Amino acid sequence: MSEIYDLIIIGGGPGGYVAAIRAAQLGSTVAVIEKRKALGGTCLNEGCIPSKALLDSSELFVQARDKFAGHGILVEPPSLDLSKMMKRKQDIITRLTRGIASLFKKNQITLITGTGRIGSPATGGSLQVVATTDSNEQIIQGKRILLATGSVAIDIPGLPQDGNQVGQARDALEYNAVPEHLVVIGGGYIGLELGSVWPRLGSKVTVVEMLEEMLPSTDKEVTTALLKSLKKQGMTIHAGTKVAGMEKTEQGIILKLEGKIEESLSCDKVLVAVGRKPCIEGLGLDESGVSLDETGRIVVDNNYQTNVPNIFAIGDLIHGPMLAHKAMDEGVVFAEQLAGENPAVDYNLIPGVVYTHPEAASIGATEEQLKEQETPYKVGRFPFMASGRARAMDNVDGFVKVLANPESGRILGVHIIGPFASELISEAVTIMAFDGSIEDIALTMHAHPTLSEAFKEAALGAFGKAVHG
Ligand code: NAI
Repeated sequence: MSEIYDLIIIGGGPGGYVAAIRAAQLGSTVAVIEKRKALGGTCLNEGCIPSKALLDSSELFVQARDKFAGHGILVEPPSLDLSKMMKRKQDIITRLTRGIASLFKKNQITLITGTGRIGSPATGGSLQVVATTDSNEQIIQGKRILLATGSVAIDIPGLPQDGNQVGQARDALEYNAVPEHLVVIGGGYIGLELGSVWPRLGSKVTVVEMLEEMLPSTDKEVTTALLKSLKKQGMTIHAGTKVAGMEKTEQGIILKLEGKIEESLSCDKVLVAVGRKPCIEGLGLDESGVSLDETGRIVVDNNYQTNVPNIFAIGDLIHGPMLAHKAMDEGVVFAEQLAGENPAVDYNLIPGVVYTHPEAASIGATEEQLKEQETPYKVGRFPFMASGRARAMDNVDGFVKVLANPESGRILGVHIIGPFASELISEAVTIMAFDGSIEDIALTMHAHPTLSEAFKEAALGAFGKAVHG
């Protein structure tokens, strides 16, 4: 009789591969079915990691072009070797995906490269998964199934993607030439991040966003500063505008805009970044009776169990923001719960980061949310302009904003725009996870000169105690 695994995971992205490793570490026998040739999912293969590689490379290009001279470093104006930049990005992906594969080996996880689908329950109570590989179809049995297939990009009806002229994020990470004019449809995370890469390398970039208020869940002060900075860097942003039609001509593409801006835009590339939806097609959810909510997400309980016993789901398939770090933490919590431990994800403390320049990062409530909830608060701000370290780095765009309870000083939200905001936010997450207050930060020594001093100064500023503010 074939082996009955303790756990079969469909999907080897940040949720699935992390759950697999943690479950194996805790003693479970685990099989993972992943359709890509490499582990790591969208994040590692065609999302977070490659986009950060290109954001870093293109930012260095800008530094060499616009900033070196100010540091007294005199170089010829830089020229671009795009294929080398792309190769570097690919090498990073290859190294990281191989790293996960070796962790799988180390933890004796069975990896099947193919497509997984929930099969019919086997006799004896175990569940079955049908794995379709290049060469065959096999049925594997397990005591539990974890669905972790992530999400796919949403299409706009009437704007068919060809993966070349009109494509999604993964296509914009593979352009083999710098577009002359890139139009990004959707001014969310992907739109603003990938929309930042290409103007640095010479493209004209126009972002067309349906909503009038962009990044609606971000603190408004941060959004205003971010959009101002992106516009200053050359990005054109048309908020409150939709694409009503598209025509392909010999010269390129003509997009008809409707809304706040009514005009025709001609461009050579279109990036569609209007959100993502759970990847559930072909998983066999209907046949197995797994329930979805009204938004198309799989319904789970606090243990990530669906309405079908022993079928679980995590990551982009379930409630909450579609973020790799959220999926990873759910993977760990799921595996530890299976082993009888009692951890939980704190859904109020999921940091959000936009990796633009400057970066924007946030945790907890925004000022607008506190106002709406009629929660009393005090605000403290500290501009990077006044930070010695930011000055030394010549990177002074942005500020830290701290929202705290006026009586107890308990921190309610932290919003950062500026250098390394993505790193700085972790201190805020930690202090909030421990229910910390302004007083806790005041008593914590921060090295000088560092960017993190800006967080301390902003926190103290909420109570008029800042020294440099
Ligand atoms: P998103 O939800 O962040 O933004 C999509 C934007 O498109 C929204 O502002 C929406 O109003 C707009 N939109 C929708 N339909 C439109 C239309 N027809 N015309 C114009 N605008 C339209 O989704 P995005 O940027 O595609 O990212 C997908 C997911 O990936 C997100 O859930 C995000 O959390 C995640 N992600 C996270 C990153 C990070 O953490 N730094 C980076 C990239 C993606």
